[in-house]
Amino acid sequence: MKWIYSVSLAVTLAMQPALAEIAHPLTEQARDAYVSELLQKMTLDEKIGQLRLISVGPGTPKEAIREMIKQGQVGAIFNTVTRQDIRAMQDQVMQLSRLKIPLFFAYDVVHGQRTVFPIPLGMAASWDLDAVAEVGRVSAYEAADDGLNMTWAPMVDVSREPRWGRVSEGFGEDTYLTSEMGRTMVEAMQGKSPADRYAVMTSVKHFALYGAVEGGRDYNTVDMSPQRMFQDYLPPYKASLDAGSGGVMVSLNAINGVPATADSWLLKDLLRDEWKFKGITISDHGAIKELIKHGVASDPQEAVRIALKSGIDMSMSDEYYSKYLPDLVKSGAVSKAEIDDAARHVLNVKYDMGLFNDPYSHLGAKETDPADTNAESRLHRAEARDVARKSMVLLKNEQDTLPLKKAGTIALVGPLADSQRDIMGSWSAAGLARQSVTLLQGMKNATAGNATVIYAKGANISDNKSIQDFLNLYEQAVSVDSRTPQQMIDEAVAAAQKADVVVAAVGEAQGMAHEASSRSELTIPASQQKLLAALKATGKPLVIVLMNGRPLTLATEDAQASALLETWFSGTEGGNAIADVLFGDYNPSGKLPVSFPRSVGQIPIYYNHLPTGRPYNPAKPNKYTSHYYDALNGPLYPFGYGLSYTTFTVSPVTLSSKTLARNGKLDASVTVTNSGKRDGATVVQLYLNDPVASMSRPVQELKSFKRIMLKAGESQTVSFPIDGNALKFWNAKMQYVMEPGKINVMIGLDSVHTQDTSFDAL
Ligand code: BGC
Repeated sequence: MKWIYSVSLAVTLAMQPALAEIAHPLTEQARDAYVSELLQKMTLDEKIGQLRLISVGPGTPKEAIREMIKQGQVGAIFNTVTRQDIRAMQDQVMQLSRLKIPLFFAYDVVHGQRTVFPIPLGMAASWDLDAVAEVGRVSAYEAADDGLNMTWAPMVDVSREPRWGRVSEGFGEDTYLTSEMGRTMVEAMQGKSPADRYAVMTSVKHFALYGAVEGGRDYNTVDMSPQRMFQDYLPPYKASLDAGSGGVMVSLNAINGVPATADSWLLKDLLRDEWKFKGITISDHGAIKELIKHGVASDPQEAVRIALKSGIDMSMSDEYYSKYLPDLVKSGAVSKAEIDDAARHVLNVKYDMGLFNDPYSHLGAKETDPADTNAESRLHRAEARDVARKSMVLLKNEQDTLPLKKAGTIALVGPLADSQRDIMGSWSAAGLARQSVTLLQGMKNATAGNATVIYAKGANISDNKSIQDFLNLYEQAVSVDSRTPQQMIDEAVAAAQKADVVVAAVGEAQGMAHEASSRSELTIPASQQKLLAALKATGKPLVIVLMNGRPLTLATEDAQASALLETWFSGTEGGNAIADVLFGDYNPSGKLPVSFPRSVGQIPIYYNHLPTGRPYNPAKPNKYTSHYYDALNGPLYPFGYGLSYTTFTVSPVTLSSKTLARNGKLDASVTVTNSGKRDGATVVQLYLNDPVASMSRPVQELKSFKRIMLKAGESQTVSFPIDGNALKFWNAKMQYVMEPGKINVMIGLDSVHTQDTSFDAL
């Protein structure tokens, strides 16, 4: 990936004039002066026009957009993804509008633009910040190369709610891991400056707490204590903003009864006053209108007044601001200064994007447009394959079933084994399904004729008609085989009987783990369960390859499988990457960024829970303790868990000091040894626990991690510096404090099997 840096740097240097020659230097001072002067030239309507963000689509035909642009009624556009289309609109601004204020162009570039990388939950499973930075750089490169200036990413909504379909878009259940991922994405996508030729501005979302929607039902409400909010859910947004994200997208949920879109505490007191955010706030799709249904506004005028006064700068996909703000200003319900503030934020980010220096900065000359937008040469396949294989998590591997030999006969079955669309996952941006590699293709590539791969679909994604209809609501997303379920199973069983080993690719269709795709069950659909049972009955070794966008309940599959590999939705190069892991060309190193429950009834289940007065002890079960009497305690697979084809041992922890002074620092170290026969990577995880404090503190919390690569037989000492910041928490009075006392240290290769010691914080 280094070449991207060098290419981008070279091109940037070649294309962009030195700072002194730039008409509008990219400094805050120059920006403020420029924008103030511009605001003075603008009419009220033009200012309000800047607050409107529209999506190009059936509701807004190109002719209507042209007229809006001419009248200065639109500030930015999203969902347009080719240089030709973008240039045409920017041309209209420059040729037809009075003040020629450039538009900016945005899109949901969440895990890739044309090359699709693993879904963010998969990226998180790599625990590899270099890999995630690679995703960020390539995505920004491809997005900027398509003329885009902004992305609606990263999504850093911490979630302990696997029923919520959008778990797939985030980085899991942990605050620290999500913060690191969000920060890394922002830094990589914005580069040195979002004005650079191959950088885009990020818009961190969804502010705030969207991942905690009640019951996992999308768009639902969130009710949360201030301690949990500040300790667990807000830090990833803060980390992404501290990394310089220019935008914030506001969430659709209410927080403690107040919709985020109407929450001036959230958007002004916290975001602007405390966190000093200077960029732009954008409502989510139609959110201003929705204030009426939320029950906090009686009519459109009121919704607009509340949203603007609460701190929403730009309105996404509704015409309410344009329609109602002029009269609200006339009547005095909204002041001109408030409009100026919002418009200033929009103009500021346009300035930061370099658009006032060159409205075509991400477009270049027309002659340089790619002849074929979808050309193979525009993809970054090697990078996608590299990240995808790092994202995979080996959940089980009985008697070294994996890696497979590139010999003999392999039966590959399952509705996801040859689906180009599903493997890309949700929000696959401008990625084309036809350019993705399925597992079938990947296995053929890997075996190159040395093994026979027999393929049978075996089952439809689901036999449930209403689920099929749900998935195919807007387009033909899943193809339903017209054979009976039994006919399909029979074909798969016949294939299995001819084979030495069976690989079953099962899980969810892309549309099952998406926005508005909440589930009340987390099982693999029944059609696929029946297929697995029939395959198991053949007595052949069964390798289950999971494709899904959320933790599933897998107790049955865990019992059936000889080996189980979690591959998430792995993107354009998914099939090759999975084959790399299955055949041992890559030794799996991923770790779960989220706990996998045994059943839906266990939710919420997360590793960093608070202690209770009656903890359950499996070694000494006691009725009057906190647990379910009808289920095993704890998750099926814990947070941080993942196997390898080699084995690792972790030494006892050594501390550089048994005490931590108030402003001091100590190091906690372990030696990790690759005790197996293969080279491999693993992730060393540091957890801390404050066993006695002024309020109950989580039984363990991730505070640091390091991904290391060890050759067979090799050892490495890994040290984690610990200082007071790692121990601070929000106390009952909402003060952010470090309290003296004993601190437990746990270091391991997952959250359960750890080497433990303790020190005293003074
Ligand atoms: C989603 C956002 C997304 C926006 C624009 C909304 O429905 O909630 O995450 O960025 O659409 O596509």
